[in-house]
Amino acid sequence: MARIIVFVNQKGGVGKTTSAINIGAALAMLGKKTLLIDFDPQGNMTSGVGGSSSGKGVYQVISGLRELKDVIIPTQVRNLFLAPSSIDLSGATIELVEKENRNDFLKNAVATVEADYDFILIDCPPSLGILTLNGLNAAREVIIPLQCEYFALEGLSLILQTIGLVQKSMNSSLRISGILLTMFDGRTRLSQEVVRQVTEYFGDRVFKTIVPRNVRLSEAPSHGLPVMQYDPTCIGARSYEAVAEELINRV
Ligand SMILES: Nc1ncnc2c1ncn2[C@@H]1O[C@H](COP(=O)(O)OP(=O)(O)OP(=O)(O)O)[C@@H](O)[C@H]1O
Ligand SMILES: [Mg+2]
Repeated sequence: MARIIVFVNQKGGVGKTTSAINIGAALAMLGKKTLLIDFDPQGNMTSGVGGSSSGKGVYQVISGLRELKDVIIPTQVRNLFLAPSSIDLSGATIELVEKENRNDFLKNAVATVEADYDFILIDCPPSLGILTLNGLNAAREVIIPLQCEYFALEGLSLILQTIGLVQKSMNSSLRISGILLTMFDGRTRLSQEVVRQVTEYFGDRVFKTIVPRNVRLSEAPSHGLPVMQYDPTCIGARSYEAVAEELINRV
């Protein structure tokens, strides 16, 4: 059974996509066959691993035009595969709302390929709308990336509430596998304060590895590469490798 993990935070720009790509690449490099599913119409995960959003993608799967296995493509990293997003995925939001089983589409698709992978990582848009609900329903674990910035904790209670509702109404096996602190800047007291507050509240549900602000992490996607391939020795690469190891050990 694959570990199916969704990356959720309705706040934009907190590191969902960066984390999903680089944790996925690190897992793949550790020999775990990993599928990245780009469930965000922005398509940042797709371009971040060198894929294109202009062809077939998860929208076709959601619309019943294709099987998930038929849109999956390999990436530059061995063991790392991608189900690309496509811009028309934004239209799926409107189409799905009308359907009775609107929250089951991704789950049903994932079930058809689950046996082929060790890890399936789902990237979601910055909202708690129907795409994110599909992600939460399809997954067994949630990672919540939090940026070590002002207002990081704002909105967290809404995510937790949403996860609670999903657990109650459609996916009782869902659990929060971790809060991941990102873009830490050791020079600011603010970053340290966020770490202190989050750790105080969530205890060992917070990943021990804190991902620092690292310009390599922001450069890598424009080369279509995970950071481990763009600059294997940088602190960003080593941090996400450590997160992946933690994830493997956290069962
Ligand atoms: N640790 C980091 N150090 C420096 N830059 C980072 C780091 N993590 C992410 N970034 C950059 O910050 C921006 C936002 O990150 P990312 O796209 O991963 O966030 P997101 O939560 O997926 O955003 P969205 O909500 O729009 O999907 C990107 O430009 C990314 O390259
Ligand atoms: Mg994103």
